[in-house]
Amino acid sequence: MADVIAIDGPAASGKSTVASKLADALQIPYVNTGNMFRAVTRAAQAAGITTAEACTDENFAPVLAGLQMAYKRNSDGVFDLEVNGEFPGAALRAPEIAKLVSPVATVGSVRSFLKELQRSFAANGMLVMEGRDIGTVVFPDAKWKFFITATPEERARRRLAQSGENVSGATLEEVARGIAERDRIDSTRAIAPLRPAEDAEMIDTTGLSIEEVVSRILNKVKA
Ligand code: DC
Repeated sequence: MADVIAIDGPAASGKSTVASKLADALQIPYVNTGNMFRAVTRAAQAAGITTAEACTDENFAPVLAGLQMAYKRNSDGVFDLEVNGEFPGAALRAPEIAKLVSPVATVGSVRSFLKELQRSFAANGMLVMEGRDIGTVVFPDAKWKFFITATPEERARRRLAQSGENVSGATLEEVARGIAERDRIDSTRAIAPLRPAEDAEMIDTTGLSIEEVVSRILNKVKA
């Protein structure tokens, strides 16, 4: 079994906050796989791939060939995604990236490239890995699996309250539409669609505090 705590769930479900607090509490690395898809999207856009129609294996071959990614401690001592020697950090939350990332995540070669990398991270000891397909595809043998959800209204409210990813002046309805579209693409794609693993514990975080969710997971892991 892989020594991995797999946390999956839809966009803006609160899983990143929960996963990073959990990793802090356990003092183990936290890998945000959404950021890896975002980093590929950023590199693709820099190479002129800017539409869903252009998201093909052929177009992504040179993009993937030029990408070196690793999780390393940044200057604050926190594990963070390094791309070609730099930490892109908040740049990955840009609205243009959020718009194209779901189409990019349907490309087979992108998914296999990232899956191999994600699996390699577990060679160095226990970690928390968060995404859409961690419990189903990347680590089907993870020791712990959680699927975090919240109602669409709650998720739109949470996303609107975050800085970075929203187009400035966006309304709750626009944010909700954007999330619904990401959910639609993520859960209907042919390869590794968003869905809970059969053996995942479902946690609906609507009305729960972050601390409540983290302590529920911690209790399970420590047991
Ligand atoms: O978690 P996030 O919103 O940063 O993820 C961005 C996109 O990346 C998401 O809409 C779909 C894709 N993704 C994926 O397909 N598989 C993962 N394990 C993580 C993210």
